Amino acid sequence: MTAQLATRVAKPDAAAIAAAVRTLAAGGVVAFPTETVYGLGADATNGAAVARLYEAKGRPSFNPLIAHVADLAAARALARFDADAMRLAEAFWPGPLTLVVPKAAGCPVSELATAGLETIAVRVPNHAVAQRILAGLRRPMAAPSANRSGHVSPTTAAHVLADLGGRIDLIIDGGATSVGVESTIVACLGAPMLLRPGGVAREAIEYALGRQLVDAPAGVAAGAEAPLAPGMLASHYAPRTPLRLNAERVERGEALLAFGPKLAAGAGDAARVQNLSERGDLIEAAANLFSHLRALDAAGAKTIAVMPVPQQNLGEAINDRLMRAASPR
Ligand code: TXA
Ligand code: MG
Repeated sequence: MTAQLATRVAKPDAAAIAAAVRTLAAGGVVAFPTETVYGLGADATNGAAVARLYEAKGRPSFNPLIAHVADLAAARALARFDADAMRLAEAFWPGPLTLVVPKAAGCPVSELATAGLETIAVRVPNHAVAQRILAGLRRPMAAPSANRSGHVSPTTAAHVLADLGGRIDLIIDGGATSVGVESTIVACLGAPMLLRPGGVAREAIEYALGRQLVDAPAGVAAGAEAPLAPGMLASHYAPRTPLRLNAERVERGEALLAFGPKLAAGAGDAARVQNLSERGDLIEAAANLFSHLRALDAAGAKTIAVMPVPQQNLGEAINDRLMRAASPR
């Protein structure tokens, strides 16, 4: 289990901001205010830090996270902006709008933060505390709302403490958030599509675009803890090679996704082996999950045999993703 931590709540003075930046740079998680709701931040480029974040939230599955950056220039280092995305970024950033856009080649955000997708959600928060942390960190910050999985989003430091006290090191208390609802999410992957209503009104977005937003098909909309998102907006990375779960032995022609120090029988004949964590550490395993699946998918094997992963802590989310990846499409 997550060790019980002495959660510190600090006013956003220079020392507290410096402590937040230090904690984040060292792979820790910190709750901080934005103009919409409080976020739970981690260095988006550090897969183990992102795994700790999911663990603190108690998320039973890996939802893709929003990468928070200081400005449009920093966002363009992560993702490709078409004309519509540029127009929306220029009209509403910094502010409560998140854009889902194609990941740029060489995007440094960890595969776990984007849940293995080819797209990434990016936002520039309009809040002095969030901006000061980003300026100190100089890296994108992955940040879901700072609530326990299944609870409502927090708009005060007290809400965060009630949900995550004992599970995180530090909460920066910037007072009540001004917008109070999450950011509006728009996908710019073709005709702009509204994935989640939020802090920027649809009308304002349509005015800036000069055209109407497409509505997300039922089941695609973001905001749910586990949005089903088929097709273009697939929110689940799916390898092309079929998966065989809970494999005790490797069959000829298979690749192996291993876990732990002892490999499955027949591993020596596997087309390729990737170990999620040789020492059996679930945080390390989560951080490696999507990149290892991708590597095995590229091996051209007939099947990917997957060793059992314990169903505890982050193992629940890892198994959730493996089960989705294994289900027929
Ligand atoms: O206002 C906000 O957006 C707050 C503050 C902290 O910035 N953050 C927030 O994050 O609400 P979260 O994780 O609670 O919600 C983000 C939503 C999730 O529903 C997720 O599925 C969706 O964004 N999302 C993230 N990346 C996506 C992607 N590549 N494609 C589709 N949906 C995505
Ligand atoms: Mg949330």
